[in-house]
Amino acid sequence: MKPIRRRPWDEREDRVTPPEAVLGRRRFLQGSGAVATAPLFGWFEGRSEPPPEPAIAPERYPAARSPRFADAGRPLTPERYALSYNNFYEFGTGKDVADAAQALRLRPWTVRIDGLVEREIEIDAAELIRRMPLEERIYRFRCVEAWAMVVPWTGFPLAELVAFARPLSAARYVRFETFLDPDTAPGQRLDWFPWPYVEGLTLEEATNELALMATGLYGRPLERQNGAPLRLVVPWKYGFKSIKSIRRITFTAERPRTFWSVVVPHEYGFWANVNPDVPHPRWSQRTERLLGSDERVPTRIYNGYGAWVGHLYRGLAGEELFR
Ligand code: MTE
Repeated sequence: MKPIRRRPWDEREDRVTPPEAVLGRRRFLQGSGAVATAPLFGWFEGRSEPPPEPAIAPERYPAARSPRFADAGRPLTPERYALSYNNFYEFGTGKDVADAAQALRLRPWTVRIDGLVEREIEIDAAELIRRMPLEERIYRFRCVEAWAMVVPWTGFPLAELVAFARPLSAARYVRFETFLDPDTAPGQRLDWFPWPYVEGLTLEEATNELALMATGLYGRPLERQNGAPLRLVVPWKYGFKSIKSIRRITFTAERPRTFWSVVVPHEYGFWANVNPDVPHPRWSQRTERLLGSDERVPTRIYNGYGAWVGHLYRGLAGEELFR
């Protein structure tokens, strides 16, 4: 009989590393300053890290807070938790990936927009960010592992990017793809994963007012561990849909095969809308643990954003909308 090997994604929710454990090991990391300057120390000490890169479009921060998304009904999560308790499998399967993620080089960083569009293009990330209307939005964020946070993202509506891309009428889905660079990202050498990380939305979801292309967090450009230079944020869905460090956006007629739905199809589907009444096969989704206080609060359908997105899912009874 073959030995049963536990894979990282088989962890039970209550065994996922708690933030205190991660923070304890990384006590020196008091905030983003430490993260941002970490490569600098290596450089001065004569180690092999390249010199620090200038931030992308720093003059655009802080952006004005949107009055429509100025309050998420819960206190903001202290910044150090959002910056040091991360999921970024390209840099490791634990939560303390922030140091490893500093290896990601952000210049040059181009984003390719292709597939069913009037004209395929490749655009520099800084140039794209400069063309878009940036704003700050405070959103609740709910990971499928039942931890949650409330953070101020800076970004632009994904609908603006869709308009910029000019999709053809046959386009029904948007596919997002992360970088592929196993030399920089050791996780991408784990060949049981179908790299690069891919996510997808329907065009209706992508043009919903809530869908945000995030470029910043806490009033500054995104840190690498949070998905610099740009990542998706879809707050009514489980966090794995919010793909980080995007390199390619493709408009398609067919539903994209998403990273986690290939790895564990019965646990992480295409839709992944938050719903307390649909348990994960290995844990309940009834409540969530707030990063920072560890308080457990009830989970809400669509993470409390049903007024914005509930209509998108009417008439889809045959679909597994909540995993
Ligand atoms: N994007 C990429 N490219 N790789 C990842 O491993 N993890 C996802 C999502 N986006 C992931 C990703 C998961 S599971 C979550 S919960 C969120 O990123 C975590 O975002 P955060 O670390 O900024 O909180």
